[in-house]
Amino acid sequence: MNPLKELRQRFRAALEPLVEDLEDLLEMVRPSQDPRFGDYQANCAMPLGKRLGKAPRELADQIVARLEVDDMCEPPEIAGPGFINLKLRSDWLAARLQDAVKDTRLGVAPVETTRTYVVDYSSPNVAKPMHVGHIRSTVIGDALCRILRFAGHRVISDNHLGDWGTQFGMIIYGYKHFRDESAFAAAPVAELCRLYQLVSQLVDYHETRRCLGDLERRVTEREEAAVAQEAEPLPVAGAERKRAAKRLRGLKAQVAEAEADLSQARKKLARVEQSPALNQLATEHPEIAQAVLRETARLHADDPENLALWHQFLPQCCEDIQRLYDRLDVCFDYAHGESFYQQRLSHVVQDFLDRGLACLSDGAVCVFVEGFETPMLIRKSDGAYLYATTDLATIAYRMETFHPDAILYVVDHRQAEHFEKLFAAVRLWGHTDVELQHIRFGTVLDQKGKPFKTRAGDTVGLEGLLDEAVRKAYGVVSANDDAKPGGAELDEAQRRHIAQVVGHAAIKYADLSQNRTSNYVFNFDKMVALEGNTATYMQYSYARTQSIFAKGDVDVDRLRDADAAISLEHPAERALGRELLQFPEAIDECLLDYRPNLLTGYLFQLARRFSEFYQQCKVLQAETESVRTSRLILCGLTGRVIRRGLDLLGIQVVDKM
Ligand code: ARG
Repeated sequence: MNPLKELRQRFRAALEPLVEDLEDLLEMVRPSQDPRFGDYQANCAMPLGKRLGKAPRELADQIVARLEVDDMCEPPEIAGPGFINLKLRSDWLAARLQDAVKDTRLGVAPVETTRTYVVDYSSPNVAKPMHVGHIRSTVIGDALCRILRFAGHRVISDNHLGDWGTQFGMIIYGYKHFRDESAFAAAPVAELCRLYQLVSQLVDYHETRRCLGDLERRVTEREEAAVAQEAEPLPVAGAERKRAAKRLRGLKAQVAEAEADLSQARKKLARVEQSPALNQLATEHPEIAQAVLRETARLHADDPENLALWHQFLPQCCEDIQRLYDRLDVCFDYAHGESFYQQRLSHVVQDFLDRGLACLSDGAVCVFVEGFETPMLIRKSDGAYLYATTDLATIAYRMETFHPDAILYVVDHRQAEHFEKLFAAVRLWGHTDVELQHIRFGTVLDQKGKPFKTRAGDTVGLEGLLDEAVRKAYGVVSANDDAKPGGAELDEAQRRHIAQVVGHAAIKYADLSQNRTSNYVFNFDKMVALEGNTATYMQYSYARTQSIFAKGDVDVDRLRDADAAISLEHPAERALGRELLQFPEAIDECLLDYRPNLLTGYLFQLARRFSEFYQQCKVLQAETESVRTSRLILCGLTGRVIRRGLDLLGIQVVDKM
């Protein structure tokens, strides 16, 4: 049972005779932040007072008089201007804990209305180096799928691979002109990545050279503007004078910005020009950008040679990505990449035109959506389709095929505008009864606050990240084991296995425990630490519950079946018991806005409650047999909630650490 939901039901019954439209009032029944004010607090009397023009304190009295919570709570208390404080009764808590212990779902009832979700996540551009952002999408998307499924929804996970874009034009061009036959035979994907990087460097080189004049001109113009401003006599009066100074500072900042761009461009050029080999390639391929576009266009026009290369490269690239998915323990129901929708694109564009939702502008097809300055392009004047066109076709396909109630896109925040426009266009198109959500996430930063890059910059780099986390975890696990009072307990094979589980978990948990919309700094040492809000700490807490059973030779499953009473006399027992009952609340909260960090936050809190309990209450040496049993049951339930909670995040546990 979800206690918060139950309480809100009771408040609903009490409020209904007083007021209509009470949803927002019910939201104001919340777990209290401070245990001195009980377990829950209802702050609805104040806004209700405003609405009805009555004294909140009086209304609080009326609400409490109607509120039927005797079975569940101690008599409610009214405090201050009209806060209603509620404390759960210990016998009620104990009975609900008993229910949770016997429930394989640990007290989490399946949702009343099952919805169908399509979750679009991971979605890397194949043949192009994958970056940590793709790990982030993969990990968050996988966790959301697991949590939604557990809640009782129907979930279809779909990896919308970028398998049809310009990057294929690049590797096809690279393969035709620059391939190293033996390197390709030995490690095809590594060679394709090299080709991708080489071609994009050359494209970039020529593009930069083309822009160099403009960049130089911009610096000169801005310098002139700043000099002119400086030459103006400064006004004497205060405000005027300040404004002039500000203008000058602004102009100087613009100069600095233009200079930085120019210097960056020059560095880029130098990197090519200072390497004789690269310089020669750049000279020999002056039109490489156009050539790449031509290769892409040929592929899209079913040119047999390019299509054959694509058919050869794609499975090789996918196999490479699969290795990472295997290590992360992630799988998809579908991996319909962009190529899957190609036949549908012309129909999409035609349909938009036929319905008068799009118009031609200089040969390009544009959809104008309200609230946006620029239209959404769905066909270029040269006939090429765009990322957005594929996304439209994808939505149409998903609607026909899966009839979803919601489609979630777990994608980098930088694509926010794309999705806003896309969703608006989809509404115009007539799909109004589907929830479309961009589950955006922030950038992963390095210690210096710059976007985090792996050294190799490809899937190898990402696997290297996992390896490094495992290595660090090995250090932590070994040190912890060596420091055990009775001497080390783990053999080498166990240590290695635990390090794998802990290391992979660390990477995932670090991603999941962040507020997903903010950027976060990638830090190996923090993420494998035994203390703090880390997977390691959670896994350690779980292992601790298991070690209690091992030490006392206790069969928890048998305890679970016996109808032993749970006592919550000690404050630490009560606090733990109450936390355990909040698992359903955490799941609900987490799904409200698709935020896995609310689940990690809950688990962290639970682990802390457990640690306090364990410090303050003897378990195996408890005063009486019945207290011992009750405490063992609490430990058992704690272990199960942590294990299930971590499992919903795609994280495994170990019995010993
Ligand atoms: N392939 C894209 C990228 O790596 C992400 C695709 C997200 N999904 C979508 N339906 N647009 O940036």
